[in-house]
Amino acid sequence: MSSSDSRSKLKPDTQLAHAGRDPLGFHGFVNPPVVHASTVLYPDVGTMVTGGQTYSYARRGNPTTDSLEGALKEIEGAAGVKLANSGLNAIALAILSCVKAGDHILIADTAYGPTRHFADTFLPGMNIAVEYYDPLIGADIKSLFRPETTAVFTEAPGSLTFEMQDVPAIAAAAHEIDATVLMDNTWASPLFCQPIAFGVDLSIQAGTKYIVGHSDVMLGTIAASEKAWKGLDTLHGAMGSHVAPDDVFLGLRGLRTLSVRLERHQRNTRIALDWLKGQEQIGQIRYPALETDPGHALWKRDFSGASGLCGFDFKSGTTQEQAYAFLDALTLFGLGYSWGGFESLAIPVRLKGMRSATKVDPDLQSVRLHIGLEDPEDLIKDMAHAFDKAFG
Ligand SMILES: Cc1ncc(COP(=O)(O)O)c(C=O)c1O
Repeated sequence: MSSSDSRSKLKPDTQLAHAGRDPLGFHGFVNPPVVHASTVLYPDVGTMVTGGQTYSYARRGNPTTDSLEGALKEIEGAAGVKLANSGLNAIALAILSCVKAGDHILIADTAYGPTRHFADTFLPGMNIAVEYYDPLIGADIKSLFRPETTAVFTEAPGSLTFEMQDVPAIAAAAHEIDATVLMDNTWASPLFCQPIAFGVDLSIQAGTKYIVGHSDVMLGTIAASEKAWKGLDTLHGAMGSHVAPDDVFLGLRGLRTLSVRLERHQRNTRIALDWLKGQEQIGQIRYPALETDPGHALWKRDFSGASGLCGFDFKSGTTQEQAYAFLDALTLFGLGYSWGGFESLAIPVRLKGMRSATKVDPDLQSVRLHIGLEDPEDLIKDMAHAFDKAFG
């Protein structure tokens, strides 16, 4: 058995601790060096003109980037991985790596807002047709295929509204027409979902969230199947994409503790939601790991865990003033974008201009929460106080 065969049989927690490390290659140091570099020297012109050494120029990679890419390659079961300087940059690079002028791309209506903005702003100008689809479409995605459809973008659960998608069914249909399947898999992280195993070609992470895990770095990652790897590698090189070594190092550091952090995020979220669902001001809770969630069966089938990002709707009749007063009264939940760090966060859900293939109730007041690593009892007290202030 080759060493990569034996590595791929390791359990996820063991992979997180060992993948991408080569202590004996670096004088025994547990972690790889943080290589600050541009120029790489060659021993002689023969080596230079034949490209006969591992590293040629730091933009094309160095031992630090190799370590994070190698670790994710193993964990995601990918043919190759590329890093990007934010999650959104990873999404844009992944899309551009698999579409060309004249093509048609299908994008889930529930994709992250800035994904939509990128698609709407840049793709039509490149003569690439963009069409949004209902995330619950499943295998019926076939009905939207055109002769020029070359890519299908998925995200599960959907941004802000948390709909699960039947990504394996969508992937199977897309592969019948040889289209490339992309998935924004940030919510589950590569620990709780490995999309390449069920047919995704480009598995995208906003590493800014759980991989980094400490709200201090922007990072994106793209893991590619055999089919998608060449296109991604070529585009990434041609665009001169590069992530600074200190940021890569913080991504690597975060990866090592991903499992223990997610376990706690998941536990705290369960406790917080168990309390929330009994509150009279609440309508629907949005979290596919809950048995009552409409996407629960898909979550159970495709994911092995859940993170700390969830949402809830206030009961109907709640005004925007009441919803905003609730948010303003929170003291432990910060009002801020992003998520995946150690701290709890809250934002109002604003869907204006964010959905075109599905209907949203314009009067519904909803909140997205990120449940952090604080003691959930304190978070519950904070929310209880905020409900009292807003509704009391
Ligand atoms: C689902 C999802 N994908 C991608 C991104 C983009 O990541 P970044 O902020 O690193 O660009 C975000 C950011 O909030 C997100 O929520």
